[in-house]
Formats: sequence, structure tokens, C-alpha cells
Amino acid sequence: MEFRDSFFVTLVILLTSTSSKILCYAIVCYKCDSISLEACATSLNVTELPYENCPSASLQCTMSIVDSITYRGCSSTTPSIGATYSKKCNTNLCNVGVYPPGRMKCYQCSDVSCASSPQGIPHPCLYHQEVDQCYLDIRSATEVYRGCRSDTNHTMANTAIYCDYNGCNEDSAFGKLKCAYCDSKLSLGCKRDLMTPSNITQFEMCEMDMPLNGNNSCFLYRNVDHVVRGCSDRHITNEIKLNMKRVTNCTNKDFCNTGNLPLQQCLQCNSELGNDNCRYLPTSVSKSVCGAAEASSCYAQEFVNWHVQRGCARAPQRNDVNRQYECDDRDDCNATPFIRCYKCSTESNKDCGTWQKPGFLQIEECQQQGANCLIAKFKNGVTERGCENEHFNCSLSTVVDCQQCQGSFCNRNTYPTARLLCYQCGSESNDCSKVLAQVPLPCPQSELEPVNGGKSECFEYFNNPLNRAVRGCASNSTEYYRCMLQSKSGCRLCSTDGCNNQMSRLASD
Ligand SMILES: *[C@@H]1O[C@H](CO)[C@@H](O)[C@H](O)[C@H]1NC(C)=O
Ligand SMILES: *[C@@H]1O[C@H](CO)[C@@H](O)[C@H](O)[C@H]1NC(C)=O
Ligand SMILES: *[C@@H]1O[C@H](CO)[C@@H](O)[C@H](O)[C@H]1NC(C)=O
Ligand SMILES: *[C@@H]1O[C@H](CO)[C@@H](O)[C@H](O)[C@H]1NC(C)=O
Ligand SMILES: *[C@@H]1O[C@H](CO)[C@@H](O)[C@H](O)[C@H]1NC(C)=O
Ligand SMILES: *[C@@H]1O[C@H](CO)[C@@H](O)[C@H](O)[C@H]1NC(C)=O
Ligand SMILES: *[C@@H]1O[C@H](CO)[C@@H](O)[C@H](O)[C@H]1NC(C)=O
Repeated sequence: MEFRDSFFVTLVILLTSTSSKILCYAIVCYKCDSISLEACATSLNVTELPYENCPSASLQCTMSIVDSITYRGCSSTTPSIGATYSKKCNTNLCNVGVYPPGRMKCYQCSDVSCASSPQGIPHPCLYHQEVDQCYLDIRSATEVYRGCRSDTNHTMANTAIYCDYNGCNEDSAFGKLKCAYCDSKLSLGCKRDLMTPSNITQFEMCEMDMPLNGNNSCFLYRNVDHVVRGCSDRHITNEIKLNMKRVTNCTNKDFCNTGNLPLQQCLQCNSELGNDNCRYLPTSVSKSVCGAAEASSCYAQEFVNWHVQRGCARAPQRNDVNRQYECDDRDDCNATPFIRCYKCSTESNKDCGTWQKPGFLQIEECQQQGANCLIAKFKNGVTERGCENEHFNCSLSTVVDCQQCQGSFCNRNTYPTARLLCYQCGSESNDCSKVLAQVPLPCPQSELEPVNGGKSECFEYFNNPLNRAVRGCASNSTEYYRCMLQSKSGCRLCSTDGCNNQMSRLASD
């Protein structure tokens, strides 16, 4: 096209050159370059462009693009070597207009008004590049840039948006997003709509300016019984800020936060009314859909008489409540049992580790529903049992050995489990003939444990004043010491489970 045009023009000039020379015609051309005068490339307004009278030998005007720079002038003085584009014409001031015709046009601005949708027509790009793009670079509500990708006067942010047809960077930097606003504490219908199966209809509308790459969004806050929907720029309360994990956002379309909450399903039962599974085996109670649209959570409640009630929505107000919780994290979340654990410490009772006489133990009611029961041994040798919680758990740095289990009272039995079993008898109340007929019992931890592991042995000796055998564990240092003091019949030691049942036979020998 270009080639054919200039060929044609040249041809005409050649044909007419003889008469031009004779009449001494001169020609006037626009004269500029886009380095010193931006308008040379970009202006559509001819009155901004200077012009020159060409020497009589030059009867053509030229427009050319060399290294992305635009030149206009008389053909004899206008650079065109290595031009990507070049065009000549032979009438006064004919080298006018945007050149080449396909030069990219973009909206270009950097001032405060740049944020809103630009007025007028897009401007040609200063530098001509074969492939160019328009950009929209939104830094904040007050800092917005538009221009050509080929511009060199602006450093683009990573978030800049590019597009590739004339004037395509025309969008307002701030769209609008409409959201539903409602608060279940203030009005009904915020959780679920009674009439429409998919979306709520009872809400106020709120509208936000939306930077194209900004952070505003419609949100849904769901925290057990409390549901709030709204615009993120104004409806995030302190309660919501503290529970950001319970917020979901959307920006994809107006009222995108109006979806009905799913129907809540909970266990619904009461052991006071005869359903004992409600407290002992809640997982065997089948869940059912809550009747009320306003039920977005489940509850479980234990009374001081240890009866348990489970149901939908908020827990009823009663003044004989022992423990209770509310939840919404999944269907039948209120099946989680109330847990009781054995509680003791070897600091106040040696039997806390050996579990020989569990009758002394305290029972702890775990505050966290579904908590594990624990037995933990600490660096200082103390063993404790109780409910797992923030202050008592297996990950404490002071714990050296730890065992956790699920279910009420599961933290029973000897701990550590690997212990030597010995017959322990011989006192007034502890007749050996009965004890020998039963299984041997685990030995207590020695006071020296865990420093040297204690002495893992059973002993027996014949107590002459009492005239009977006394049996026990070497880890019981008081008794072991007495055994060691025996000189006549001696102190017999052995180290397998229940091995200290030989003495009566020895004595009668
Ligand atoms: C063209 O430029 C001249 C000089 O800068 C200005 O006075 C005039 O208003 C402009 N015309 C248009 C249509 O922009
Ligand atoms: C870059 O230059 C163009 C033309 O002078 C101007 O319209 C635009 O606002 C400038 N952009 C920036 C970011 O300064
Ligand atoms: C979006 O949030 C991020 C992080 O909070 C912030 O750095 C950025 O400036 C925000 N963008 C806008 C457009 O407000
Ligand atoms: C939801 O939007 C809020 C407000 O812009 C923001 O603080 C929060 O991090 C977003 N949450 C998610 C999950 O994107
Ligand atoms: C209904 O809610 C869904 C999910 O929240 C949302 O994507 C959709 O746009 C809403 N429909 C209408 C008609 O508002
Ligand atoms: C264990 O106890 C420590 C110290 O009290 C606490 O920081 C941590 O959160 C607890 N871990 C668990 C799982 O409760
Ligand atoms: C040691 O044995 C005596 C006598 O059988 C008993 O009373 C005492 O509780 C035992 N000590 C420990 C730590 O078990």
C-alpha cells in the first residue's frame, strides 16, 4: 500500500517536474521531530506544528518513522534512511495527520482525574512501535496512570492492566460492587430465606467503589449463631475482625454474598427424657435437619445431674447447666462428647503412676469438649493425669513421656506401662495369703527415677518379730532398706514378674 502510494506520487512528480521547475514553485511542509516536539508524533491539532518553506529543489513533503521517532519536513532534509515507515506527498502542508495510520492510540494521563473514565478521544502514542499496547496502572484511589506501553516516562506496577486496541484503556479505575447487608442479630432472613431455595431476599443493599485490582469485597461472616453479610469497606465490626477465619469474600458479581446457608443438621436428643445414648454414645444418635430457618448452629448441654441434651441453634437458658458448647463446623458437630478424665499427681499421691488404689483419684471435667485424657511424666520425675488443655499437653517442653487417649476415664492403668510386677504384702492389712492368690501388682516409681531408672527388682524377707514373710518392690526404698537389713534369713531379690513368692517355702525348709 505504502509502496504503491509513494511510487504513484513519485511517478506524478516525475511527469510534472519539468513544468514545476519552469514556474519556480516552492512548497511548504510541516517541519518537526517527536524528540523536541511531542506533538509531531501525537497531535491531531495542526495549528501546534511548525512548518518550513522547502528549497526550490525540493518539491515534496515527507513523514517518516526512524527508531520509533517521527519526523516531518521537506523531503530533501527529512531523515528517511532505515525508516520503518516513510511517506512523501507534494501539496502544501500535506505531511499532516497521524502517521502511520495504524499508530496505536491510548488514553494518557497521570493526574487526579485519571481515575475516572477518561473523556474525549484517545491520543496517539509518542513512540511508534509495530506492536504496542495501552495500559491502565491503578496504584490507589488517587494514583492512577494511563498511557502507551511504549512510553518511557512511566514505570509500570506489576498489577498494571494491558490491552491492545485503540483507546482500550478507558475503563474507570473504580467500578461499583453491590452487596447484601444484614445482621442475624438485627433481623430475620439473614441466614436462609423461607421462600427462595437458593438466595436470601431480606437485606439492605450496600455499594462500594471497586478499584479494579483493589481489595473491597462482599463478605459473609458466619460464627455459630451469628451471621453478618455486607460490604467489606464498612461492615467489618470488631467482632468480625477478631474472627477473620470465619469470613468468606466474593467480588465476582453484584449480590454474590446472598447464597442461603445450608440447612443445619444436628443431633437432637435428651437423656433426661430417656435417651441414654445422648450422653453415653452420642455417635449412635442419628442427626436430623433443624426445623427452624434461623438455626445455623448446634449445641450440647450437660446439666449438674450429668444428664445431657443436644439440639439445634442456641443452647436453652437453664440455671443447672454444668458444661455446654455451640458449634457449626460440620453437620452433627454436637455429637462431640463431654469428657471426664482421672486427675492426680505423684507429687501428692505416689499411686498416681502405679494405679494400685484408684479409689483416691479425683475426676476432672474437661472444659474443652472432646478433649483427650492424658498421662504425662515430667522432667522432674512427677507423673500427672488429667484433661488435655493449653497448660497440660504432650507438647510441653517439660514433658519427657506422654500418653493420650480418647474417651472418658481412659487415662487409667499403670504408667509407664512397662513395669515390674511384684507381690506387695506382709503388713497387717495386707495378708500375703490373699495377695499371693491374685496377680502381682506394678511397682511404684522410685523416688530416684528417672535419674537412674530405679532398681527393677522384687524382694522378700522373713520378718521374725511379725513371724511372716514381707514382699515388695525394690523401688519402694523404705521397704527395700528393711529387707537389706535382714541378716538371718536374708533378703531375697529377683527380677521377673511375680517372682517374690518363694519365701514361705524357703522358710519351711
Ligand atoms: C490546537 O492548538 C492550538 C494551539 O495550541 C490551540 O489554541 C487550539 O485550541 C487547539 N485546537 C484544538 C481543537 O484542540
Ligand atoms: C507521559 O507522557 C505523556 C505525554 O506527555 C503524558 O500524557 C502522561 O501523563 C505521562 N505519564 C506520566 C506517568 O507522567
Ligand atoms: C490491597 O491490600 C494490600 C495488602 O493489605 C495492600 O498492600 C494494597 O495496597 C491494597 N490495594 C488497594 C488498591 O487498596
Ligand atoms: C476478605 O476481605 C477482608 C477485607 O478486605 C480481608 O481482610 C480478608 O483477608 C479477606 N479474607 C479472605 C479469606 O480473603
Ligand atoms: C445467589 O448466591 C450465590 C452464592 O452466594 C451468588 O453467586 C449468586 O449471584 C446469587 N444469586 C443472585 C440472583 O443474587
Ligand atoms: C500445649 O501447651 C502449651 C503451653 O501452655 C500451649 O502453648 C500449646 O498451645 C498447647 N498445645 C495444645 C495442642 O493445646
Ligand atoms: C512401700 O511399701 C509400704 C508397705 O507395703 C507401703 O505402705 C508404701 O505405700 C509403699 N510405698 C510406695 C511408694 O508404694
